[in-house]
Amino acid sequence: MENERENSIEINKAEFQKIGYQLIDTISVFFDDLPDKKVTTSKSPKELQQVLGNLSLPENGMPTDELISSASKLLFDHSLFNGHPKFFGFITSSPAPIGALADLLASSLNANVGGQILSPMATEIEKQTIRWLAEFIGVSPSYGGVLVSGGNMANFTAFLAARTAKAPKSIKEEGLSGSSKKLITYCSKSTHTWIDKAAILFGHGSKSIRWIPTDSSNKMNIHALEQNIKDDFKNGLQPFMVVGTAGDVSTGVVDNLEAIAAVCKSKELWFHIDGAYGVPAAVIPELTGLFKGIKDADSIAPDPHKWLYSPLEAGCTLVKDPKHLIDTYSSHPEYYNFSLSEEGGSVNYFEYGLQNSRGFRALKVWLALQQVGRSGYTKLIKEDIELSKYFFTLAKNHPNIEAVTQNLSITTLRFIPVGFEESNKKREEYLNTLNEELVNTLQSGGEMFLSNAIVGNKYCLRTCIVNFRTTKKDIEECIEIIVKVGSQTHATLQEEE
Ligand SMILES: Cc1ncc(COP(=O)(O)O)c(C=O)c1O
Repeated sequence: MENERENSIEINKAEFQKIGYQLIDTISVFFDDLPDKKVTTSKSPKELQQVLGNLSLPENGMPTDELISSASKLLFDHSLFNGHPKFFGFITSSPAPIGALADLLASSLNANVGGQILSPMATEIEKQTIRWLAEFIGVSPSYGGVLVSGGNMANFTAFLAARTAKAPKSIKEEGLSGSSKKLITYCSKSTHTWIDKAAILFGHGSKSIRWIPTDSSNKMNIHALEQNIKDDFKNGLQPFMVVGTAGDVSTGVVDNLEAIAAVCKSKELWFHIDGAYGVPAAVIPELTGLFKGIKDADSIAPDPHKWLYSPLEAGCTLVKDPKHLIDTYSSHPEYYNFSLSEEGGSVNYFEYGLQNSRGFRALKVWLALQQVGRSGYTKLIKEDIELSKYFFTLAKNHPNIEAVTQNLSITTLRFIPVGFEESNKKREEYLNTLNEELVNTLQSGGEMFLSNAIVGNKYCLRTCIVNFRTTKKDIEECIEIIVKVGSQTHATLQEEE
């Protein structure tokens, strides 16, 4: 081979600069134009396939500048924009623009943060990020952990660490079948679906979950928790873990973490907190009472790609004693000569979780934490909560809206048509049908975006504000949109009857 290699994948310096600058220009216009765009173009998969075309795999390469410019157009013309100020669906935040720059930088470096030898500074940055996340939510910076792709993975990572810590030592060699007692997990009935996946995937089975009922404020009923644990011990089972939720996915309720911590302590169970959504709110001094007990958690899952506004993907598992992660995930294959460097204090993140090769997702979180700072985040999160309360108040004061719940930055509400007074079962059934139809219509309409929650037996509209672009004016306009589209939906349903 000659010294110069004919190379179709390299982009030379001048071309990279030209295309890169152009892309940054396009993205900056995109961010700036967001408030004037529709939240989604809401095309059907069929329409999108037509736009995309049905070409077969290219045999030969194509010019880079054309590819980047057509991909930008394709995406900016046919996407849902969770960075839009009127996006309140599920728990998906507006992404911090610094995260977009960080991802470009991280991909250019392409550090493999599985082993420190491959990612010397990136590993240090991840370590610092994890320490800062612990400080941010108010637990000891001695918690250790690992960044993962999101909330599900963060909770899975902790679930397995809990099992290693609490199951018989033989579990690593014998698996679950070697244990004579069935391992039991406890969580409230409003826990996110990750717990089901974990129990099924890791061989415990969905029947190993005790779905503890909630009290009148929708928090886990502590008395029922204690009773379930007592019964299970009596029946020869092995309780091992209780999951408290700090901000449930439907209505944002934070469990009584202090009481759960006390139960776990007295029964020697692992205390895990799913804080994927709500735990960043612990940074607000006025809310420390709500999160009391957090410092006693054996593990916590905060999720930077939710309320820290990190672009997807970024979740985190924090463990009070990180040795439990090492005990669970460490292995020393002959082809990794990492052990020598460990003596020098290296951290090899492949030993802290499920992934082996790992990207540099810490960079976007680390940079945003510095760009905004603790006080900046406190202000942003506080404002999101205030906007959610404002949503609730406007809903409450509107004759055609029933405000149902408000916790952290989640509000649930229902549209009630004019003159729809009679209170009976048929009315409730109709309101559920109407509000379900309304959620679907609003989601495809593109004026605003929300999702749904079932509260009691009520099908509700649900807005979750993890959005630094939303203003009071957006909220006022959204109330009007809900009433306008709600009235139209009601009229259509009446015509169909
Ligand atoms: C409380 C809670 N836990 C876990 C998850 C799962 O997070 P992810 O979608 O990042 O996997 C969510 C998602 O909304 C959540 O709200």
